[in-house]
Amino acid sequence: MSNDPNRAKSTPRAFSGIQPTGDVPHLGNYIGALRNWVDLQDSTDGIYCIVDLHALSVPREPGEVGRATLQMARVMLAVGIDPERSTLFVQSRVREHSELAWFIQCVTAFGELRRMTQFKDKSESNDFVSSALFTYPTLMAADIVLYDTDVVPVGDDQRQHLEIARDVTQRFNSRFGDVLVVPEARIAEVGARIMDLQNPQNKMSKSSDSVLGTVSLTDTEDEIARKFKRAVTDNDAEVRFDPENKPGVSNLLTILAAAKRTDPATEAENYTQYGPLKTDTADAVIEMIRPIQKRMAELDDGTVSELLTAGEDRAREKASEVMERVRRAVGLF
Ligand code: TRP
Repeated sequence: MSNDPNRAKSTPRAFSGIQPTGDVPHLGNYIGALRNWVDLQDSTDGIYCIVDLHALSVPREPGEVGRATLQMARVMLAVGIDPERSTLFVQSRVREHSELAWFIQCVTAFGELRRMTQFKDKSESNDFVSSALFTYPTLMAADIVLYDTDVVPVGDDQRQHLEIARDVTQRFNSRFGDVLVVPEARIAEVGARIMDLQNPQNKMSKSSDSVLGTVSLTDTEDEIARKFKRAVTDNDAEVRFDPENKPGVSNLLTILAAAKRTDPATEAENYTQYGPLKTDTADAVIEMIRPIQKRMAELDDGTVSELLTAGEDRAREKASEVMERVRRAVGLF
């Protein structure tokens, strides 16, 4: 919980970040992350950040990240991040993120960063391994603590980064006084389990081998119907929720239940055949996505930019206050 003496403690603060990758989010991103953020708006004071500085940790063309940022903002607004209730902004516009990251780096051990599995994976798959890829978790920790964040809703792949954020925040506090709020992770359960429709043992991913395996938020109704019709199941023709032995069928049940906000095991009781399960899952997904696509088409660049600027002003106000606390605690000139 927050130890910021200035803040009323009734509503916990949630913070999360998403990279502007340039790809439209897919069903797994939506159910696993974005929709949780939308839901959390009822119970938390949410700050949602498009982390363009993080995106620069691998080589990008000039202009690429800016375009992707605007596109990601449009998607976030379309899925239901409500700029009246939440703060939506772009990381690089609030300079305190880079500034605090330096202070965090100074209390982060080289060996701590070297253990990060994401760094190990990414440094193997990239030709140019930037030092920013290595220090990435320190910028992420700065993002979080800059807003006196209580909870961080993230996917399972960010678990280790959240642990390091907590460790370095505690270390900072033990050296400089009780200055920063130690955040807690809130790991999504369902989204981590949305699997590829063609290879249901793998998570749904933009880098899938088959375009039929991944459903994008901008797919047409026909494309969605076709992808579910062709989804891989198995040969024993029994509808049962059993992710280990029946990954394909269980994935369809998970998606259907997520779209209808029910439970996969209960959904299984309604089906004896794969055909109707596939059709109903496709229909439920189409229903879920339709209002998102409608809003996406309505939002023009000007409106999106204005909303981002308003969010940025609010974010900066909080960030500059925390940054000032840090400078004072460290005791700089
Ligand atoms: N590293 C996160 C990811 O790749 C994105 C991120 C950056 C983030 N800063 C954050 C997530 C702060 C949560 C909180 O998904």
